Amino acid sequence: KASPGVSVDPLRIVGKELKFMSKNIRQLLGSGHPALDNVAKYYTRSEGKHMRPLLVLLMSQATAIDPRKLPADQSPNKKPVDSPLSSFSILDDSNPDFNPLVSKSTESHQYNVSGDENILPSQRRLAEITELIHTASLLHDDVIDNAETRRASSSANTAFGNKMAVLAGDFLLGRASVALARLRDPEVTELMATVIANLVEGEFMQLKNTAQDEAKPVYNDDILQYYLQKTYLKTASLISKSCRSSAVLGRCAPEVVEASYAYGRNLGLAFQLVDDMLDYTVTAAEMGKPVGADLELGLATAPLLFAWKSNPELGPLVGRKFSEEGDVQKARELVHRSNGVEQTRQLAQDYADKAAAAIADFPEGEAKAGLLEMCEKTMQRRK
Ligand code: FPP
Ligand code: MG
Ligand code: MG
Repeated sequence: KASPGVSVDPLRIVGKELKFMSKNIRQLLGSGHPALDNVAKYYTRSEGKHMRPLLVLLMSQATAIDPRKLPADQSPNKKPVDSPLSSFSILDDSNPDFNPLVSKSTESHQYNVSGDENILPSQRRLAEITELIHTASLLHDDVIDNAETRRASSSANTAFGNKMAVLAGDFLLGRASVALARLRDPEVTELMATVIANLVEGEFMQLKNTAQDEAKPVYNDDILQYYLQKTYLKTASLISKSCRSSAVLGRCAPEVVEASYAYGRNLGLAFQLVDDMLDYTVTAAEMGKPVGADLELGLATAPLLFAWKSNPELGPLVGRKFSEEGDVQKARELVHRSNGVEQTRQLAQDYADKAAAAIADFPEGEAKAGLLEMCEKTMQRRK
C-alpha cells in the first residue's frame, strides 16, 4: 500500500506488462507483404512514451481492487482473450503463416502474458489497441503536418513516402478493429470505434475553424471553447474512452466507470494543453519532433489564444494563418511578451487537478498512486 506523499514510478508498477506489449503489437501487425509489414511496424521500433497503454493498465489495476462491481447476474459473459494470434489467419490470409509466397515470420505466435493477476487479458489487449490507434493517428498526422521527424528519427512519410504512410495507418486501424472485435464486448467496441471517428473530427475542426470570422477575426470566448472541444476530440477522447473501456471490461459499477472516464478526459485535456505549450517553450532536439510547428502550420493553440485576448492586433495574423513574411515571428514574440504560456500551464494544471479529484475515492494502493503520479508527470514533462 502506497502511503500519501510518497511518489511512485508508474512505469515500475506496470513496466513488466509494457515490456510484453511491443512484442504483442508487432504480432498484431504482421503482414504477408514484406514492405507493408515493414512500414506498419516502423513506429513500433522507436521508443514512444506508451502513455495511453500505461494509463489503461494502471486503471485496470486500480479498479480491480475496487469492491464496487456489477452484480454477477448483470455482468455480460466476457470471454478472456487468450487465443493465440495465429488464429488471425483463419479470416486473414495476409498473415505470413498462411501466405505461401512469403517466408514465415520469425516472431513466435505465443500471446505474451506476464503475471499480474489484477489485469485481465482483455484489458491487456485493450492497452495494445489504444497504442495501435494512437500510432495510426501519428502516421496520418505526420502526413497532414508534413513532419520530417518523429520520436527523434525520420517520420514514416519521410522514410517511405506519403502513400505508404497513409496506407500503413489504415492497416493499423484495420488490425486494431479485428483485435477490438475479438474482445466480444459491444460497449467497448462502440467506445473505441467512436474514438476513431473523434480523431478525424478533431483534425477537421483544426483544419477549418468555424468559430472564427474568417474575414474579420476578433477574439471571443467561443474561440477558446472551440479549441477545447477540438482538443477533446483529437487527444482526450482516446485517453478518456480507453480508461472507461478498461473499467467496463473490469465489470466495474457505473460510478467507477464514470470516474475512470472523468480522469481520462481531464488528464487528456491537460496533456494536449501541455503539448501545445511545449511547442513554444522547448527545443526540437528535446522533443524529438518539430517545435514552433503550430504557427508554421497556421494553427492558433492555447498560448496564442490567450495572447490574442489581450493583443487584438493578432486577429489579422490569425485570419491569414500567419502566412505573411514575419507573421510567425511577430506572433511568437507577442505570446512570449503576454502571459499566454503561463495561462496555458495554469489551465492544464486545473485539468490535471480535476483528473486527480475524479479518482479520489478509489481504494488506496499502488495503481491509484501511479494514476496520481501520471497527473504530476503530465505537468512536468519536457517531451
Ligand atoms: C497529433 O497532434 C495528432 C493527433 C493527436 C490526432 C491526429 C488525427 C488524425 C490525423 C485523424 C486521422 C487518424 C485516424 C487514426 C483515423 P499534433 O500534430 O498537434 O502533435 P505532434 O506535434 O505530435 O505532431
Ligand atoms: Mg503533428
Ligand atoms: Mg497535427
